[in-house]
Amino acid sequence: MALTRHHTRILSSSFFLLLLSCSTLSVLSHMFSPIDNYLINCGSYESTTAVDFRRFSGDLSGNHHSALSSSSNGAFPLTNKDNFPNLPSIYRTAMVFNKPTKYVFPIKEQGTHMVRLHFFAFNSTEYDLGEAQFHVLVNGFVVLSNSSRVISSEKPVITECLIKVLNEENLVIHFVPTKDSKLAFVNAIEVISAPKDLVPETATYLSSNGIENFNGLSNQALEVVYRITVGGPKITPFNDSLWRTWIPDNEFLRSSFGSERLYFGGRIKYHAGGASREVGPDNMYNSARLIKSNNDSVPNVKVTWEFPIIGGYKYLVRLHFCDIASIQLGLLYFNVYVNGYLAFQDLDLSSITGSLASPFYADFIVDGNGIGNLSVAIGPSNSSMPYVYDAILNGVEVLKMNNSHNSLDGEVCAGFVLKNWTSGNANILLTFAAAICILLSIFIVVRRKIIDSRNYVLWSRLPMNVSEDNEIKT
Ligand SMILES: *[C@@H]1O[C@H](CO)[C@@H](O)[C@H](O)[C@H]1NC(C)=O
Ligand SMILES: *[C@@H]1O[C@H](CO)[C@@H](O)[C@H](O)[C@H]1NC(C)=O
Ligand SMILES: *[C@@H]1O[C@H](CO)[C@@H](O)[C@H](O)[C@H]1NC(C)=O
Ligand SMILES: *[C@@H]1O[C@H](CO)[C@@H](O)[C@H](O)[C@H]1NC(C)=O
Ligand SMILES: *[C@@H]1O[C@H](CO)[C@@H](O)[C@H](O)[C@H]1NC(C)=O
Ligand SMILES: *[C@@H]1O[C@H](CO)[C@@H](O)[C@H](O)[C@H]1NC(C)=O
Ligand SMILES: *[C@@H]1O[C@H](CO)[C@@H](O)[C@H](O)[C@H]1NC(C)=O
Repeated sequence: MALTRHHTRILSSSFFLLLLSCSTLSVLSHMFSPIDNYLINCGSYESTTAVDFRRFSGDLSGNHHSALSSSSNGAFPLTNKDNFPNLPSIYRTAMVFNKPTKYVFPIKEQGTHMVRLHFFAFNSTEYDLGEAQFHVLVNGFVVLSNSSRVISSEKPVITECLIKVLNEENLVIHFVPTKDSKLAFVNAIEVISAPKDLVPETATYLSSNGIENFNGLSNQALEVVYRITVGGPKITPFNDSLWRTWIPDNEFLRSSFGSERLYFGGRIKYHAGGASREVGPDNMYNSARLIKSNNDSVPNVKVTWEFPIIGGYKYLVRLHFCDIASIQLGLLYFNVYVNGYLAFQDLDLSSITGSLASPFYADFIVDGNGIGNLSVAIGPSNSSMPYVYDAILNGVEVLKMNNSHNSLDGEVCAGFVLKNWTSGNANILLTFAAAICILLSIFIVVRRKIIDSRNYVLWSRLPMNVSEDNEIKT
């Protein structure tokens, strides 16, 4: 008898192991594998493996060595001589440009692509990259103008944007040094096709005119400004299916009176139609901040987060919710506010997802007028009940949208950036840039010719078959 019971235990524990490995397998088999997946370690002959196990190929590796002579054309590799311990290896080298230079990435899958540019302004014997000043253009959108505002010699900076590639065969990234500095650089580049559901067509536009639909969202260029996991520790690319970084919300939390943090050890139940694991990773949905009522009165508080933004752009605010707190369905009702506007009244996650621990996200667009903070708040609603949780938030993403000059950074359009370099006319005042941009956009065809015909260094020597090498090996 004892033997049998022992046996049963062994059987059940091996069954448990089997279940465990099945679920691990199912997680792995659902892992996103992008069709376009370029990971470039710039200014390097060697590929290097990032902390998240992805392999970044050296842009000087491969059998295209002839193009290395482009150093005479204004692009050359630079190695960081200083040894920074703990510095990821992609930041030890850079490709440096003293003329406008472009990287061309052939695109297999049309649609939204994630572009991540890695910058670390190190000081080598030849160049102090801290002196670099340049513009970055991606497929006609200005992503960065005057790099020196963002790039640091203290720590690496990653610029991430989402850009739709449609009808074009290539994704083209231009690095254009300013005439004064004649110095531009990049340490690493990621170009990854995004899952179809990452950027939807429509979002809810909140303004003083009330609530409207914003259509054509996926045609905008978007720059990731903040990506926050609420109540939990930092999430690194290793734990995110799209290799994103989510930082803790502490520094953005303004009023947390009456709130508490929660960590949930259970499984997040992703549902078709709701948020997918690519929209938000388990680790982000596994933590939250909540408002709880401990007695027979619903607290009259709000938890508020504030995000410093630059005015003059529209912002996409994506809010992530997952009821990891309630003990049963139908107990959690709350209000959500974005920039002071009531974004949700009596939000009832149970009726949306149909189960607990099931993620839901919502997209709102607001105008960033003037310089100030974009705010997000949660609070009890008229339907909130005592003795239970009365509000929850798991994650926030804030993305800046291109302005009418097709720029994410200033009033200067891509055509102007390129024309100003080639015209040799430094006297064109920046104050006229906007007017010139309007003229330029009238002559779009002309502009295209300008972009294509001038003698930019074409840096297209890229490994084409990197995607096979980039599966996370466990
Ligand atoms: C960069 O290095 C050079 C010489 O190696 C030195 O003269 C210069 O002060 C350094 N610049 C900075 C900002 O550390
Ligand atoms: C670029 O930014 C730096 C630092 O903010 C500033 O000193 C410089 O004047 C700016 N240059 C241009 C051309 O706007
Ligand atoms: C990934 O997440 C787990 C918790 O889910 C954590 O223990 C681990 O340290 C994380 N790994 C990295 C590299 O961030
Ligand atoms: C309920 O608890 C809150 C603090 O959690 C307290 O401020 C409030 O006075 C309490 N209300 C009652 C009716 O006891
Ligand atoms: C905006 O947020 C910053 C910190 O994130 C804070 O110091 C500042 O007071 C806020 N400004 C306004 C106008 O609320
Ligand atoms: C409760 O309902 C009233 C009337 O509809 C509304 O004015 C008030 O803002 C609501 N309160 C909350 C916290 O939603
Ligand atoms: C962003 O760029 C797209 C494509 O050029 C344009 O249609 C759209 O109007 C721009 N967005 C804004 C808010 O101006």
